[in-house]
Amino acid sequence: MSNKIAVGVLGATGAVGQKFVALLEDHPWFELTELAASDRSAGKSYKDATVWRQYKPIPVRLTKQTVKACEPTLDCRVVFSSLDSSVAGEVEENFARAGYIVLTNSKNHRMDDDVPLLVPEINPEHLGLLKAQRAKRGWPGAIVTNPNCSTIGLVMALAPIHRAFGVKRVIVTTMQALSGAGYPGHSAIDMLGNVIPFIGGEEDKVETEPLKIMGTLEGDRIRFADCRISAHTNRVFVEDGHMECASVELEKKAKPDEVAQVLAQFSSLPQELRLPFAPKHPVVVTDERDRPQPRFDRDAGSGMSAVVGRVRECPVFDIRFVVLSHNTIRGAAGAAILNAELMKAQGMLD
Ligand SMILES: NC(=O)c1ccc[n+]([C@@H]2O[C@H](COP(=O)([O-])OP(=O)(O)OC[C@H]3O[C@@H](n4cnc5c(N)ncnc54)[C@H](OP(=O)(O)O)[C@@H]3O)[C@@H](O)[C@H]2O)c1
Repeated sequence: MSNKIAVGVLGATGAVGQKFVALLEDHPWFELTELAASDRSAGKSYKDATVWRQYKPIPVRLTKQTVKACEPTLDCRVVFSSLDSSVAGEVEENFARAGYIVLTNSKNHRMDDDVPLLVPEINPEHLGLLKAQRAKRGWPGAIVTNPNCSTIGLVMALAPIHRAFGVKRVIVTTMQALSGAGYPGHSAIDMLGNVIPFIGGEEDKVETEPLKIMGTLEGDRIRFADCRISAHTNRVFVEDGHMECASVELEKKAKPDEVAQVLAQFSSLPQELRLPFAPKHPVVVTDERDRPQPRFDRDAGSGMSAVVGRVRECPVFDIRFVVLSHNTIRGAAGAAILNAELMKAQGMLD
């Protein structure tokens, strides 16, 4: 009999859902026992319900497992959610009301006052919001969110810089991978030889989520960080890995090598606690002149590190750099798993 914590995945048939299934296999603390998706998939075997797009095969023990509907009767206490945002909000609330701990990738609850938007290396104390969440909503469970897939790379670079030098203003341009749009996503004919300079709702997320993540917990609310971000978001013909070019104005002037040093030395609670999914280096700094590149660098730290390169002076603001992060690992499934590990380490899943 395993003494691991039983977990389920809501949206298990989707792009991020599959990544959860792949990453949770052999997890030292969690055992995936439940797979759930829409009524289109419920009742089918997992193999028949999903178009499997991962590089390693479906775990054998799950191929014949029956996919269930997303109803809060699953045999587990923790659920990871990668539901389409058109349904995630209500479904996740139903689960929290029924006592489940919900760790979600979806946007629906990220900016709610009483919901942590958690990056364990940056704002682990924001889990303190759960007391207020339970009191306000009267549910025994909880909803904890992780950031949008392009917010995460930016904020992992910005947070240590903000702590050391203060960030005033940021202009960021993203080049986002196709897998960020789910499966099947854009058609090849739309993308080949092309860039699409619009991703619905994305600029607003990149401009606001970092302010909450870098904010301060004051009683039962977060005081947002006092800086401004302007984002241009683009879809490019890359399979996985979101790249972003950022220019940053600082409160306290700093040279590129000082900024690079702060980033390279950044380490935090997940590293101290040796959480299984915590990368040794949350931010990897490269000094090669043409890196990071998605194909070669997205798997740094098993896809959990942000890779920063080309840290240099900016003639308009103070500093500019390029940051890359794996959108379905650190930007989605891996982020939610690390959040769950932090909660487990802090006795919140007992
Ligand atoms: N892709 C990324 O890089 C990324 C990164 C961060 C966050 N996210 C967010 O994560 C979520 C999932 O994204 P994705 O790319 O994995 O999308 P996806 O491939 O389209 O998968 C969506 C999942 O939602 C399920 N679903 C759809 N309608 C449903 C309903 N009415 N009831 C229950 N389940 C339903 C689907 O099940 P069926 O197969 O049965 O239809 C499928 O499992 C989205 O909210 C997205 O914004 C994605």
